[in-house]
Amino acid sequence: MSYDPAFLNTASTRSGITYIDGDAGILRYRGYPIEQLAEHATFLETAWLLFEGELPTRDELEAWEEEVRLHTYVHTNVTQFLDGFRHDAHPMGMLLGAVAALSTFYPDAKEIGDVESRRLQRVRLIAKFPTIAAWVFRHSRGLPYVFPRNDLDYIGNFVNMTFEIGGVHEPNPVLQRALEILLVLHADHEQNASTNAVRGVGSTQVDPFSAVSAGIAALYGPLHGGANEQVLRMLDEIGDVKNVPAFIEGVKNHERLLMGFGHRVYKNYDPRAKLIKRVADDVFAQTGIDPKLEIALELERIALEDDYFISRKLYPNVDFYSGIIYRAMGYPTDYFTVLFALGRLPGWLAQWEEMLSDSEQKIARPRQIYTGYDRRDFVPLASR
Ligand code: SDX
Repeated sequence: MSYDPAFLNTASTRSGITYIDGDAGILRYRGYPIEQLAEHATFLETAWLLFEGELPTRDELEAWEEEVRLHTYVHTNVTQFLDGFRHDAHPMGMLLGAVAALSTFYPDAKEIGDVESRRLQRVRLIAKFPTIAAWVFRHSRGLPYVFPRNDLDYIGNFVNMTFEIGGVHEPNPVLQRALEILLVLHADHEQNASTNAVRGVGSTQVDPFSAVSAGIAALYGPLHGGANEQVLRMLDEIGDVKNVPAFIEGVKNHERLLMGFGHRVYKNYDPRAKLIKRVADDVFAQTGIDPKLEIALELERIALEDDYFISRKLYPNVDFYSGIIYRAMGYPTDYFTVLFALGRLPGWLAQWEEMLSDSEQKIARPRQIYTGYDRRDFVPLASR
């Protein structure tokens, strides 16, 4: 057996979906550079590309958008699950519970061997995830749930279900496109921890709602998707640029991590972080600049010059700047990872489908190197 804890040097699968060159800072979905997709693709177009392996034709895209539009409603019983959460429940905990519960509404999702059933479940999840994510936001705010509208596009519907007040929400096309670009940038990332969870749980042939809820649980962690929330908490804790040098010293003394920095694969600048910084300019032109950006830029400047970070090849990752943008868009800090999950959903589903279609894949069941006791006999309680 090979011993490779945390799989630093282990390929768990062959995949044709996403390519990363960590040293060169390259990311491609189905061969298309992330820079081009961020500039030209919509989120549903990107989801189709991840699922089907090709960019959709106009007819395919219009049919896909229409099919998703017709599946955006979620059984109103799900609102009762959300109502059962405390007002201050973490949005990721609510999302996790609601998506797992959705599996009970679609028993046909268990038909894992049926290609058409798998496709229908992907449609349902892509269509209903924004509705649930928006309802999670509304519950956190004590606001009534807003239902999907068929006259709005995918992003417009999500934003409206989230921010509508009294039947009104004036959309901001610049902010909606910025959110869509962020979702495109988060859509897939080869065998990251949450995708590995979806593949591992999905390999038992459980339904995709349950497998995706495993991905949500993994993404929730502060070392993974939860980092975007922790970055903002870190910036708020630092409070002022003058406190950055002392904070950096604390990091170098191993007292804490510089959240939003470092990556298992990227040993260069995360290409998504570069693109997110450009999106920030568009967003702040609409919303005004978050003063915490100055702290983030100073952290990055120092870290990129300091040998502690250079020697460990620690660069900003996708989570370093995304949270500042989400806050500028009006999302609360503890909601950022929900937005990460919304973006990552098509990647999870594309990887799930690839795993089920791969004749080399079986139930994921690693081995171990045993380090415990040799054989020994039971000791009666009276003798212990
Ligand atoms: C995501 O895998 C993916 O693709 C994930 C993702 C995706 O799209 O799915 O890209 C999304 O999760 C991005 C990462 C978000 N997490 C964070 O920003 C949290 C902070 N980062 C670290 O926790 C860490 O960098 C990881 C978890 C991202 C990567 O950890 P590794 O590859 O296991 O590296 P490591 O912990 O072994 O670190 C190597 C060295 C160590 O120093 P030494 O013990 O050798 O002295 O680098 C240090 C670490 O202490 N280090 C850091 C650091 N990250 C690593 N030191 C300070 N701050 C950091 N952020």
